[in-house]
Amino acid sequence: MLVWEEAYKIGHDEMDAEHLILFALLNQLDTNINNDMAGACVGDVVRALGAYIDYHFSHEEALMRAWRYPGLEGHSAKHHEFMAELSRLRRDAQRGDDLKAALTLRGFVLEWLLNHILETDADYVRFISAKAEALKG
Ligand SMILES: [Fe+2]
Ligand SMILES: [Fe+2]
Repeated sequence: MLVWEEAYKIGHDEMDAEHLILFALLNQLDTNINNDMAGACVGDVVRALGAYIDYHFSHEEALMRAWRYPGLEGHSAKHHEFMAELSRLRRDAQRGDDLKAALTLRGFVLEWLLNHILETDADYVRFISAKAEALKG
């Protein structure tokens, strides 16, 4: 069971809510793995997780573009690298031992997400907040 903590919030309500959903999906994956569910169930949640992450990344990139965040390119590159690695892990999961591959995938997503949220995502929020504050005058 992965526990979402207040400290994971970056101060942007919409994005914090999406990160919370990502955690919920990771927890569903955890549950499926722990209950030794059939590989098909694990595959389904991995697919849902991948689709939601893809949506979330696009949403973040649109937000950064709208605010003319100067770090957009570097941030997007990190999203792309992550998606490439996720696809690779999903291919592995289809090939071999589903549960073992799902565990590897879960570990990878959790660690990457936490680091990414707390460092890379937090940075665009700082920028947007400062710009919003300046616009207020
Ligand atoms: Fe994010
Ligand atoms: Fe991001």
